[in-house]
Amino acid sequence: MNDIISVADYVDGKRLWQRLMELACFGATVKGGVSRLALSQEEIAARAQLVKWGQEIGLEPSVDRASNLFLRLPGTEPHLPPLLTGSHIDSQPTGGKFDGAYGVIAALEAIEAIKTSGHRPRRSIELVAWMNEEGARFSPGMMGSAVFTGVRRLDEVTKVRDKTGISVEEALAEVLAAEETLPRRPLGFKPAGFVEAHIEQGTTLQNEKLTIGVVTGIQGKRTFRIEVEGEESHAGTSARANRRDAFVSAVAIVQALQNAMWDPDDTVRFTIGMFTVLPNAPSVVPGRVVFSVDLRHGDAETIKRLGDALPHICKAARGTCDVNVRELLYDIPLKFPASMRLLINKVAERLNLPHREMPSPAGHDSRYLNYVCPTGMIFIPCKDGISHNEAEEITPVDATAGACVLADVIFTLANAEAE
Ligand code: GLV
Ligand code: MN
Ligand code: MN
Repeated sequence: MNDIISVADYVDGKRLWQRLMELACFGATVKGGVSRLALSQEEIAARAQLVKWGQEIGLEPSVDRASNLFLRLPGTEPHLPPLLTGSHIDSQPTGGKFDGAYGVIAALEAIEAIKTSGHRPRRSIELVAWMNEEGARFSPGMMGSAVFTGVRRLDEVTKVRDKTGISVEEALAEVLAAEETLPRRPLGFKPAGFVEAHIEQGTTLQNEKLTIGVVTGIQGKRTFRIEVEGEESHAGTSARANRRDAFVSAVAIVQALQNAMWDPDDTVRFTIGMFTVLPNAPSVVPGRVVFSVDLRHGDAETIKRLGDALPHICKAARGTCDVNVRELLYDIPLKFPASMRLLINKVAERLNLPHREMPSPAGHDSRYLNYVCPTGMIFIPCKDGISHNEAEEITPVDATAGACVLADVIFTLANAEAE
C-alpha cells in the first residue's frame, strides 16, 4: 500500500451538507424524510441533479443498461481499472435523507476535494449510484450491483413487478429515456476496488462517542415471499367449517414463524414488513394473502438452519389453505478484506478521528462488489440508530469527518501500485 497523501483538508463540509439537503428535496415528505423509490420520477430528477453537480466539476457521466449511474474523474493512467465509490439514492417509501444518499454525496465531495487539491490520481475514480438498493418497490434490492457483478442476470430482474404491475423493464426504460444523452456504458467491468460510506443505522458509534466505523463485514440475509391461497366467500353466509380464509391461515403461519425464530440472545432478525390481504374488502372472506419475510443473522450455520426450516413451518401451520414459499435472496455472512480495513483504520488514525471496527447488520451494495474487487465500508454515526424512518438524522460534523476519511482512502487506493 502506498503512503497516504492527505487531501482531507480540501473537503468542504458546508458544500457537502448543502448538497445533502438539496438532494433530500427530491421526494421530500412532510415529515422531513424522503420517498424516492427506485426508478421513480423523483429518482430520475435526483439523478439529473447529481449529473449536473458532477459536470460542474468536470466529471464524465455515463450509465449502463441497468441504470447504474457513473461520474468519472479521469486518472493519469486511464487504462487501469477505475476505483469505484458511492452508494444509492433510492429510498424506502418513508425513508430518511441519508441512507444511501450520504455515501453518494460524500463520494462527490471526496472527488471534488481530490480535484481541488491539484493532485491527479493514477487510476480514474468513479462515483457510482447503484440501481434499486432498497428493494422497496422492486424486490429483492441491490439489483444494480447484483447485475453489475454477475450475481443476477438483467433479463431476470427486469421481469420483477411493483405493486401496481409496472415491471423493472418498463421503469428502467423510462430512466434510460430520460438519460438518453448520457454516454452508455457496458454492463459490468472489473473495478480496482469499491469504497462505500454510509450512515451506521445503529447506535454503536453514538453510544461509544466514536466518529468512524471501520466495517468488518455484513450479516447474512434471506428473503422470502409467502403466498397463502384460500377461497373468497360471503362474510354473512359462509359457515366457519366451510371457509378457506387466507387471512386466518396467514395469522397462524405468522405466529408459528415468530415462535420458531425467537431466540434468547436476540441476535436473529426476523421481519414481516409487507402483508397484503386480498381482495381486502370488509364483507369478503379473504382468498389470498401475500407477505414478505426478511431474515438476517451473522452466523452462516444459524441463518441456513432457520431459513431452511421456514417452508416446513409455513406448511405445518397453513390450516385449510395452500401455501407457497418462494426464496428471493440468500446472501451468506460476509467479511471485507483485511487490507481495506487496515487502510480505513490508518486514515482515521491519521485524521485523529475516534474509530472502531464493527460489523454491518444492514445490507449494502458493497456485498456484491466485494465478490469482484477489494471492498471496504466507512460508517458515520446516525442519531439514536433511527433509519428506514423519516426521522433519520446525522450531524454535519460527522458527515464531514466521513467524507475526509473517504477522500484519503480513495485517493490512496487510486494511486496504489498496479497489480
Ligand atoms: C438495506 O436497506 C437493508 O435493508 O439492509
Ligand atoms: Mn443504504
Ligand atoms: Mn436502506
